[in-house]
Amino acid sequence: MKKFLKWVGIVLAVLIGLLIVGLGIVYFQTEARLNKVYDLPKETVLIPTDEASIARGKHIYQFRGCQACHGGTDAYDLLLLQSQADGCLLHNTDEIDRLQGNVYMDDPAVGKVIATNLTSGRGGVGDKYNDETWVHAIRHGIRYDGKPLLFMPSTEFYYLSDEDLGATIAYIESVPPVDNELPASQVSMTGRLIMALVPAVSFMPAELIPHDAPRPVAPAVGVTPEYGEYLTQSCKVCHGLSMSGGPIPGFPSSWPPAPNLTWGGGSALPRWTESDFITAMRTGKRPQGQPLNSTYMPWTSFRHMDDLELKAVWVYLQALPQKDYGNR
Ligand code: HEC
Ligand code: HEC
Repeated sequence: MKKFLKWVGIVLAVLIGLLIVGLGIVYFQTEARLNKVYDLPKETVLIPTDEASIARGKHIYQFRGCQACHGGTDAYDLLLLQSQADGCLLHNTDEIDRLQGNVYMDDPAVGKVIATNLTSGRGGVGDKYNDETWVHAIRHGIRYDGKPLLFMPSTEFYYLSDEDLGATIAYIESVPPVDNELPASQVSMTGRLIMALVPAVSFMPAELIPHDAPRPVAPAVGVTPEYGEYLTQSCKVCHGLSMSGGPIPGFPSSWPPAPNLTWGGGSALPRWTESDFITAMRTGKRPQGQPLNSTYMPWTSFRHMDDLELKAVWVYLQALPQKDYGNR
């Protein structure tokens, strides 16, 4: 009996030892990926200083979804919408720009991810950036110190034209400092295990971006399918690369599936008019009045798109190859 217990003890000790070594390897491998310093090609865009370009930058910041993560004017906007619906007037209609940052994710399975305070206030990174490193962060997902950013969706913003990116940076630089100290982003041990064992999942968009490839050419502004496609990179995360919808991979099973946005089988859009589409994207109400839940379908960002932009998206959806529902 004593001998048996001794053997159990030895086996357990060996297993625990192997586990510690395994976790140590995972830790050091992921640490190397998280701290890799990228050497990016030189890349600058013109940062405009005129009021019209800064206003355009704010518009892009709003509808491309930056403000949903980093903070912006939305809280105020929603208050204004609510007050109009209630029939009362807000007395102070000054917009308050607050790029104060937010906790984006706090989940022990992945870790803590902070969408940074982008101003130069306390806790912000504004004064650590220059014209070139802003470009690296937004287009390439690389922080000012050359290391990869976590979960910042630069795979979408890689396609931003020089003009749109320059205007967005001009807007960010124009916003007054806000003091908001947030903890640093951190990946948990289970998050590191996912990083090491599931190659299809990357927490760092920088690992997926072709940094040295020639820049994609942005289409001219206009009501064309090409410009519509330029505006819809973010839709594909949920509606699929072919936009035919279906359950969204990697998202909680409690989420509704994304509907088919092509004209193929199972799509509601052939029964919509252009104005139905614009109303749904601006107000979250479908033609039959059934609401779009903004927790799942971020129309609260897209509602900032102007008429030309929404019309371009509408012609793009109509021009897509028709796919039956769920052929993501
Ligand atoms: C889905 C949420 C999300 C969206 C949308 C998003 N970001 Fe981020 N962004 C993040 C997170 C999270 C980080 C910080 C990651 C980290 O700490 O590694 C970040 C980091 C950044 C940084 C680098 C800051 C630093 O910590 O050094 C800049 C600049 C930035 N974002 C700008 C933008 C702009 C401009 C847009 C829109 C065009 C945008 N972001 C959209 C989540 C988001
Ligand atoms: C984060 C995931 C996500 C993103 C990003 C997203 N959608 Fe959606 N979308 C959904 C979900 C989920 C629904 C269904 C929502 C519901 O039933 O409340 C939906 C519904 C819709 C509908 C209603 C369709 C119908 O048949 O009722 C339209 C139109 C739509 N999305 C267009 C877009 C466009 C255009 C974009 C990009 C500019 C986009 N979505 C980006 C998740 C997303």
